[in-house]
Amino acid sequence: MLIKRSPNGIDLPFPSEITPRALYESRRSFIKQIALGAVGGAALLEMAQREAFAQGTGAKLPAKLNQAYSALDKQTPFKDASSYNNFYEFGTDKSEPARYAGTLKTRPWTVAIEGEVKKPMTLDIDALLKLAPLEERVYRLRCVEGWSMVIPWIGYSFAEIIKKVEPTGNAKYVEFVTLADKKQMPGIGSRVLQWPYTEGLRIDEANHPLALLTLGMYGDVLPNQNGAPVRMVLPWKYGFKSAKSIVKIRFVKDQPRTSWNLSAPSEYGFYSNVNPEVDHPRWSQASERRIGEDGFLSRKRKTLMFNGYNDVASLYAGMDLKKFY
Ligand code: MTE
Repeated sequence: MLIKRSPNGIDLPFPSEITPRALYESRRSFIKQIALGAVGGAALLEMAQREAFAQGTGAKLPAKLNQAYSALDKQTPFKDASSYNNFYEFGTDKSEPARYAGTLKTRPWTVAIEGEVKKPMTLDIDALLKLAPLEERVYRLRCVEGWSMVIPWIGYSFAEIIKKVEPTGNAKYVEFVTLADKKQMPGIGSRVLQWPYTEGLRIDEANHPLALLTLGMYGDVLPNQNGAPVRMVLPWKYGFKSAKSIVKIRFVKDQPRTSWNLSAPSEYGFYSNVNPEVDHPRWSQASERRIGEDGFLSRKRKTLMFNGYNDVASLYAGMDLKKFY
């Protein structure tokens, strides 16, 4: 992965270029004040705040908080999560997706689901929004570059899609193909990756309830730079596995090639589970820097195996995770 460095060799985030969400922020501070009077303890406050926000009313994309699947870590401010992005179709600089993704036309939008399934189908965004009850899940997302964020995503388990299309016995993997349209995406001209950006999962990984088909974040639809109108979020894997702006989902027999694996096979494997014990060939993966919290200059916190999502460990029982990185 390209890591942009400042002249003194330290990778620095860029200031937000997004208009702050005045309405959203004021609602959150209001809820916070109410909660402050009613309950004590940071964790309780955080939970009450989230519950109120998710249930609540002013959210443009209402979703019920899934407490069991939500991290209690402090959430990354929306302005950071929507201005420090990797979306190479809009440029390799962290600030470029927010700057250029305005040209992405997210409606009408369809996702074709095909391959080894009994019921292939093409769904538009409204059908996807209605396919299953929307949940809010606060997930940690750890980028392979060594930074992480904590984001309240909105969506439902990808398992809901699997149920709907009924894979055949030949479906061993799922391939995610994303939009590659030169007219809307200035980065497509570059040869930094092979387009379209594709990713893949083993079918049992895709069926794990943590695998989130994601349609929104922070109470609203996804900003374009975060992968609108539909992306995956796989919190136990490095961020690049979570493909943005998906147009096709293929159930296949053989392990699909993926963009990052094609570009640097020794650096980016098919599995790419967060693993502090397996370093990237060019840097350590033992620690990370939380965007919006930790200082810009240093990685402060230890990275956890599977990013702390130990629920998934059984998917990899008996596998040598150094070999299947
Ligand atoms: N999806 C597409 N289509 N193109 C990309 O360049 N970058 C990946 C992933 N999905 C990428 C993508 C990487 S490297 C990361 S870390 C996450 O998106 C970043 O998601 P975020 O910007 O919402 O934090």
